[in-house]
Amino acid sequence: MSSIPIPLALALALAGGPGAPVQAAGPRAARGAAACVACHRTTSPSIVADWKASRHAAVDVGCTDCHGADHTTATDSARARLPTPDTCAGCHEAQVAQFKRGKHAFAWAAVKAMPTFHYQALAVREGLKGCGGCHKLGLKTEAEAKELKETAGGYGVAGCDACHTRHLFSKAEARQPEACKTCHMGFDHPQWEMYESSKHGVRADLKRLKAIPGSAAAPTCQTCHMQGGDHEVRTAWGFLAVRLPMPEGDAQWTADRVTILQGLGVLDPTGKPTARLAVVKAADVARLDQASFDRERSKMLATCSTCHAARFAKEQLALADGLIRDVDHVTAEAIRVVAGLYADGTLARPKGYASAFPDLLTFHDAPTPIEQRLFVMFLEHRMRAFQGAFHASPDYVTWYGWSELQRDLTEIRAMADELRRAARIDARLGAGSAPAAPVTAPGAAPAPTR
Ligand code: HEC
Ligand code: HEC
Ligand code: HEC
Ligand code: HEC
Ligand code: HEC
Ligand code: HEC
Ligand code: HEC
Ligand code: HEC
Repeated sequence: MSSIPIPLALALALAGGPGAPVQAAGPRAARGAAACVACHRTTSPSIVADWKASRHAAVDVGCTDCHGADHTTATDSARARLPTPDTCAGCHEAQVAQFKRGKHAFAWAAVKAMPTFHYQALAVREGLKGCGGCHKLGLKTEAEAKELKETAGGYGVAGCDACHTRHLFSKAEARQPEACKTCHMGFDHPQWEMYESSKHGVRADLKRLKAIPGSAAAPTCQTCHMQGGDHEVRTAWGFLAVRLPMPEGDAQWTADRVTILQGLGVLDPTGKPTARLAVVKAADVARLDQASFDRERSKMLATCSTCHAARFAKEQLALADGLIRDVDHVTAEAIRVVAGLYADGTLARPKGYASAFPDLLTFHDAPTPIEQRLFVMFLEHRMRAFQGAFHASPDYVTWYGWSELQRDLTEIRAMADELRRAARIDARLGAGSAPAAPVTAPGAAPAPTR
């Protein structure tokens, strides 16, 4: 810390004053980083302290290596560059190349592709508050980075600070499961909650508490998903657990998966591929052939087999795959119930919909309560059931997953009966034609940009 009191130093800095004296410096620091440190030690002391405690400081990687040297006074900070993965690539080519091949790189493209993304409030959308707070780790095009600067200040373009946070950039931090916790939790992907309460997570905790030997076997998220420090994360089934090819010799599961793909708008109501299939392909949302599924699955099995019998591991994963089949059946049933309401005209085709069929990707902006229920069924309860199975969480599988799915289906059927009855009564009273006027869907008016 500087010996100058912070408020005074801040005043000096804001006035463009020299701040603390320039320190003796290494080769990079000589290019100007020492001046940055001298001033920032008073304007943002904790950033400097974190950097000082980092491996970067020890090897003379300084402020200018990531932020450039164009900003030199207290009044021209807009000239400071905010680093992107390409900034790190100059020195960490391997990790950046792996990251760019993996699913994390698509996180920004994925939110942007959602049909109702632009209906969300700005802070939810692009700030570091809602969707953007987690999905910011995805790569952004130059145009997207520019847009971000105009709408939300331009922060959140680094990606690489998601697990080893600035300015420590610590490997030790990134290796702990907590590094994943902020994003992989909650409504539709509670991997943290499932893992933490599984025997895997409990053991990892007990190890850190030194209640069991440090040599005890206890996998973390990274053990299973970043094998050998590989930054290319991807799973066999993916988030949505839909894939190709269709299960051979299982007509029921094939039919159920077709229904789910129709609900996702990837197939149209007649079963033909739509434009959304291209988006799914481009963002690597699903494994589209057996080989790409097997590649991820073998990697995972090899990992389980370092602690378990290969037969045990294979059996556990096969049981989880089977659960996907079972939850698909319940979910597809519910989609068909709602699709039936469109087919018989009880529900009118919403404006902006490609066809008269429920669209699961409209999320909470779905136009009717029964479709909102379908969204919760699909994204919260179906996810929890199979994700819990993969993460050794019996409670998530049973009570937050399977049990809720049954309740959803029962209630969706009852809601459909009710809607039909109301439509019949309306028709009898002559209150206009039974099919309601087209709903202004999805959502209300787009949110203001500021
Ligand atoms: C004379 C003081 C001073 C010097 C020298 C200085 N900075 Fe700053 N810097 C500031 C102030 C003041 C801000 C604005 C802080 C704020 O918004 O609260 C700032 C902001 C920043 C930001 C944030 C930019 C943003 O978009 O929010 C970065 C990054 C940064 N400085 C890096 C550097 C680097 C790298 C150097 C050396 C090349 C440097 N600073 C030199 C005072 C200084
Ligand atoms: C290894 C690269 C790296 C180094 C070295 C580095 N930074 Fe940063 N810095 C980042 C990243 C990444 C961000 C986040 C950018 C974003 O949000 O898009 C950031 C953001 C900032 C911000 C604005 C965000 C905030 O939290 O206030 C300031 C100020 C800043 N850095 C100052 C510094 C200073 C001063 C130094 C030197 C002591 C330094 N940085 C060294 C990578 C670095
Ligand atoms: C000018 C080169 C340079 C740049 C730019 C750079 N780094 Fe580094 N980084 C290094 C060096 C050198 C090391 C130390 C390697 C070693 O320990 O052998 C390092 C170490 C690391 C480590 C491991 C730290 C530990 O705890 O051992 C991480 C994580 C890291 N960098 C992340 C980043 C990220 C993220 C960026 C971009 C925002 C970045 N680096 C930018 C040179 C750089
Ligand atoms: C708490 C962090 C967080 C928030 C908030 C969040 N997401 Fe996500 N999102 C994730 C994570 C983590 C995944 C991957 C989960 C998995 O694979 O199980 C994901 C996956 C996705 C996917 C699927 C990507 C794919 O290729 O499979 C889409 C689309 C998506 N999110 C859209 C959104 C939208 C739209 C919002 C805001 C309405 C949002 N997310 C809010 C963390 C978040
Ligand atoms: C999903 C979390 C996550 C993200 C995102 C991430 N890292 Fe890492 N990073 C890790 C983990 C975990 C390790 C420790 C790996 C190990 O155990 O060796 C690590 C280690 C590193 C190391 C040290 C490698 C070594 O062997 O010393 C560097 C350098 C690094 N990361 C750079 C980056 C860069 C650059 C990016 C952005 C392209 C990035 N990381 C994004 C989790 C992440
Ligand atoms: C014991 C190994 C293991 C651990 C520990 C583990 N996972 Fe997983 N994870 C899996 C398996 C197995 C799958 C399903 C893989 C497949 O599709 O074949 C999976 C799937 C995922 C998926 C894709 C969606 C889903 O849930 O099916 C994400 C995202 C994920 N894990 C994140 C995490 C995070 C974050 C942690 C730590 C909080 C974690 N995992 C801990 C084994 C593990
Ligand atoms: C800043 C938020 C964030 C952090 C931190 C984060 N992730 Fe992710 N993760 C995401 C998002 C968002 C996605 C979905 C990206 C997409 O598919 O478009 C995702 C996707 C994944 C997937 C791919 C699932 C699939 O569809 O196959 C795995 C595996 C994963 N993350 C593991 C991890 C692990 C392990 C960590 C911690 C070491 C971690 N993540 C840290 C946000 C995060
Ligand atoms: C680093 C070691 C390690 C890895 C890797 C690992 N596990 Fe485990 N697993 C354990 C330990 C230790 C236990 C607790 C053993 C017990 O319950 O007696 C356990 C427990 C389990 C349980 C609960 C078993 C029971 O009897 O209740 C299941 C299921 C499981 N693991 C599946 C898997 C799967 C599937 C994988 C790969 C995706 C995997 N594990 C990877 C160490 C590991």
